[in-house]
Parts: sequence; structure tokens; C-alpha cells
Amino acid sequence: MSRIVPLRFAGSSLRVLDQLALPARERWIACHTAGDVARAIRDMNVRGAPAIGIAAAYGLALAARRSRARTVSALLSDVGRAGSRLVQARPTAVNLAWAVNRIISEARGLGAPTPAALRAFVTAQAHAIEREDRAANLRMGRLGAALIRKRMDVLTHCNTGALATGGHGTALGVIRTAHALGRIRKVYVDETRPYLQGARLTAWELQRDHIPFVLITDSMAAHFMALGGIGAVLVGADRITRRGDVANKIGTYALAILARAHRIPFYVVAPTSTLDLALRRGRDIVIEERSADEVVRIAGTRIAPAGVRAAHPAFDVTPGTLVTAIVTEAGIARPPYAASLPRLLG
Ligand code: MRU
Repeated sequence: MSRIVPLRFAGSSLRVLDQLALPARERWIACHTAGDVARAIRDMNVRGAPAIGIAAAYGLALAARRSRARTVSALLSDVGRAGSRLVQARPTAVNLAWAVNRIISEARGLGAPTPAALRAFVTAQAHAIEREDRAANLRMGRLGAALIRKRMDVLTHCNTGALATGGHGTALGVIRTAHALGRIRKVYVDETRPYLQGARLTAWELQRDHIPFVLITDSMAAHFMALGGIGAVLVGADRITRRGDVANKIGTYALAILARAHRIPFYVVAPTSTLDLALRRGRDIVIEERSADEVVRIAGTRIAPAGVRAAHPAFDVTPGTLVTAIVTEAGIARPPYAASLPRLLG
């Protein structure tokens, strides 16, 4: 289990390990209101599907604490308003809406006798979501590591580690556990243009945990697959539909096609909070469009001529037909996902 924790709740504030400052600096920023948390999510100070769900849950705890409501119903309205704001911070990862909706619907169903009881409940639920995510990651780590039967090189994309979750990680959690079992020779880390989560964050995590890796640009993946050294590709997810279509960081779809072409297993690792079984097809997932400026500049330096137009879809959708298996804390789903995923949720 990694000791990296991206969020620390301190009652009156949520401290966020600023992922924009990493790896150069370990800077913590303090969020005192739900609005501060929504901003930190939108601006990517905290990112990764499960981590933004956990941050939003603590955002609700801050909203409940700061509300001056004197009745339970007025407090529920204040928390509901904060929830709407938090959910709008980023559209693609379902974990955000999942965490907010879970807390709000449980709070509504609670029948709390006093505002104080309701405030305590919302905070306890936020802690529970964080704890459960960490436990889910450890379980996925064990289940996923069993898919890596012999010592091998693996490839991963974006950052799916402790920074992106309540701790340990999803795809990177499987890699951590498999490494502890002696099954990882080295990890190929995609730099993950344009936001460089691989180069900045995954490299930082693996270096701290002494897991051997080599950083590559996204366009080198095919070359290394063709050389025959990569035994599996492991990625996370931001939303998974009933058919097993997977929204994840831009570039994931290309990797899945490459993996299929080279007969390499392509595993998606995500907690059940990332499943959106109400959606059937991947094309119904809202893909976040981020600023083109994030494409034409690297670390603040312009790399393209002034005035060029650039596109920046932050995610893409990999059809379930390209996914070898989906590892969740409830078990491993195999195709056809329309049957296996609902079975996992019981
Ligand atoms: O834009 P980001 O950095 O929030 O995107 C993160 C990813 O796409 C991850 O792969 C996904 O959230 C899973 S993280 C456990």
C-alpha cells in the first residue's frame, strides 16, 4: 500500500495535494468551502475519477458545516445546492455524481432529528466513501495481480495511482500489488499528452515506490508492443457503460486498438463506483472538452505558432469489444459485459 494520500480532511477544510505543482513541489492547498473544492476539481489540482468523487464528498461535508441553516430541511437544501455545483465541475467521470448523489440521497432518507445530526452524518459518509475506495483498490490490486501470471513488462496510461484515488490506485494499484509479488519487470509509462499525467504523476509515484519503469511518449507504444516485450496493458476508467464501453484519458482507445493488433491483453481496472449501467453505449458519454491552450503550451511555453486552432477532448471511449477484462472490487467481468457487469452488481 502506497503512503501517498492526495486529500486530507481536517474538519473545517479539505487539504488537497496540488497535482498541478507535482513533481516539482509538494504543495498543499486548503479548500474551506464546497465552491473551493469545485474549483480545485475543475482546475485539476485534484484529478482522477475516484479522487474527485472523494473530494466532492468532503465538499458536501464543508457545505453542511458552513451552512447556517437551523432546520434539517433548510440544511438539506444547502447541501443539495452545493452538490449541484460540485457535480458540474467535470462531466465525464461518473464517480463525482455517484458520490454526491449517494450522500444526498442517504441524507434525505435518514430522517435526521437535528441539523447537527445531519452535519455529522454527511461528514461520516464522506469518510466512508474514502475508506471504501481505498479498500476497493486493495481488493482490485489482489484480483488484478492474479491476471499477471508470470514476471512481465506492462504498459499503463495516465495516472491511476494513489493520487487519483483514496490510496493505492486502480490500474496502478494492480501494478503495485503485482510488483510486490515479484511479477512486474518494468512498467512502460505513457507520458499522456497533453496533460502529462504519466510523465508528471505516475513517474513520481513509481519513483517513490521504487517500481522500475521507463517513460515513453504516447506514440512509442506501438513500437514497444511490436518488439514483443509488453505482456499486458492496464488502464483505469472514468465511466463504463453496460456494454463495457470505457471512457478514459484521451489516448486509451488508440492503445486498445494497438493491444488487439499485437494480441496483448487489455485490462481496465475500476471500482464499481465507475460503472454507469444506466448508459448502454459509449457514444452517450459526455466527453469533457478542455482548453486548447493546454495543447498549444507545455508547462506554460507555447509550442505552436500563435493563432493556431487546437482540439482538446480530455477523454475517449474504448469499445467494450476491445477490452479483455474489467477488474472491479466485486470481481472480474469478462465479455459479454452486458451480462457480466450487471451480475457483478448483484
Ligand atoms: O483528467 P484526469 O487526469 O482526471 O483523467 C484521469 C483518468 O483518465 C484516469 O485514467 C481515470 O480517472 C482513472 S483514475 C483511477
